[in-house]
Amino acid sequence: MTQQRIAIAARKGGVGKTTIACGLASVMANQGKQVLVIDLDPQSNAAYVLGTNPTAPGTANLLSGESPEPLKAAPGLYVLPGGSDLVGYSIQSLDPEDLADVVKPLPYDVVIFDCPPGVEYLERLGVVAANSTLVCTDAHPLAVMGAGRVLNELSLRKQKERRGPQRWAIALSRIDLRRSMDQALDKQLAEAYPDIPRLMIRQDASLAWASAERIPLMDYEASCRGAKDLEKVAEWILNG
Ligand SMILES: Nc1ncnc2c1ncn2[C@@H]1O[C@H](COP(=O)(O)OP(=O)(O)OP(=O)(O)O)[C@@H](O)[C@H]1O
Ligand SMILES: [Mg+2]
Repeated sequence: MTQQRIAIAARKGGVGKTTIACGLASVMANQGKQVLVIDLDPQSNAAYVLGTNPTAPGTANLLSGESPEPLKAAPGLYVLPGGSDLVGYSIQSLDPEDLADVVKPLPYDVVIFDCPPGVEYLERLGVVAANSTLVCTDAHPLAVMGAGRVLNELSLRKQKERRGPQRWAIALSRIDLRRSMDQALDKQLAEAYPDIPRLMIRQDASLAWASAERIPLMDYEASCRGAKDLEKVAEWILNG
């Protein structure tokens, strides 16, 4: 199959990017795909929540021309840890296309970039390397603003025919429809971005516990609500 490369971005912190990136990776590995999570976060949360060593050589080494061994989290599920080396000068001065160049030839069906909050040059490396993007927001207005900034950048890149994703969707994260703010979010996004698909990931304790216990989602609870929602996200990625 054509390699699918998905950036998970939000600009805002704490909206569920890593939960979605790692949960989606676990779902797709469970479907028989070879999946690599590239952790672009100096906090190295993706490697941590997948139960691997967050301080092992990882994304910064890959970007520096080395060949770090991805860490195995489950059958078909691998991760390259982030880490503090990602904020070094040598990474900051890379061209935004440098990650795209090194990732394309890697032998994985699916590559998922877990982007960090705030650090735009790292987020851009992931977005430019991706062929689709999930822009995450929860119902908080500041999160919606952060997502808006990413969406703006995505459409500008496409307009200017720059390298990067040709399609994207909004991931409504941690949604609990008993909350009025959460109820209003879908309508608000539908009005602001009528042409962009919206995918809902409901609030689910299993998603939080899988991360806290450092167990890939499908090994933690394959039938949970979060896994069902992420299966729909996988379907969008594979079939549009
Ligand atoms: N759908 C969900 N249901 C329940 N808890 C969730 C869900 N999504 C995320 N969480 C919880 O919210 C917190 C933040 O999630 P996460 O670390 O995935 O966010 P993030 O956007 O990656 O944060 P950062 O910006 O620091 O990288 C975590 O405690 C996580 O377990
Ligand atoms: Mg994160």
